[in-house]
Amino acid sequence: MNAVKILGVSGSPRKGGNTEILLDNFLKGAESAGAETKKVLLREYSIEPCIGCEACRKAGTCTRFHDGMELLYPEIEEAQGLILGSPTYNYNVTAPMKAFIDRLYPYYNFTDERPGPYSSKLGDQGRKALVFTVCEQVIPEEMGFTLEALGMPLEALGYEVVEKFLATKCFAKGAVSKNEALLEKAFESGKKLAEALR
Ligand SMILES: Cc1cc2nc3c(=O)[nH]c(=O)nc-3n(C[C@H](O)[C@H](O)[C@H](O)COP(=O)(O)O)c2cc1C
Repeated sequence: MNAVKILGVSGSPRKGGNTEILLDNFLKGAESAGAETKKVLLREYSIEPCIGCEACRKAGTCTRFHDGMELLYPEIEEAQGLILGSPTYNYNVTAPMKAFIDRLYPYYNFTDERPGPYSSKLGDQGRKALVFTVCEQVIPEEMGFTLEALGMPLEALGYEVVEKFLATKCFAKGAVSKNEALLEKAFESGKKLAEALR
């Protein structure tokens, strides 16, 4: 049997930060359940923000930019599982993560009706996702919309979001590595995602 593939994507601009550390633990957990994983750090890719030219409606792919997304589209398509993580920046995802999410627009099938129904080229394939965020503050309100901003677009694209994981009280670079319980929780969540995809 082929191993389940899981792609983990970090939207943190900070090298070695909390998002990356947590992502490593989600992926280790997924690997412990037999998944094949790949880690993508968006800070290492050049990704232009979508400019709304709508050319992808006809072309089915982005014809405007030839950038890092050309490397990532095949990875997204190949992976049954997706882990998206972003630090909370001003109650929301970071700019690189927003650019990445908006550039998933070519995966929609659109009609000419306005407003029209849409479907997803990634839909009805049993794809599953886990989304997570890291933030400084304690109460969930200070995290704002980050988990929804990560999860809702994936649901629209046909993923079942099996978990929305929140790590509060993480400010300094690498602070999360002192929280063994949280790292263990991330490991278990990654394992569960892989098991759900089997
Ligand atoms: C520009 C900016 C905006 C931030 N906004 C928030 C916020 O709205 N709420 C919060 O709790 N923490 C906020 N933080 C703190 C980060 O979420 C926190 O430091 C996190 O651990 C960074 O993750 P990283 O190490 O993976 O980059 C902000 C940090 C920066 C740099």
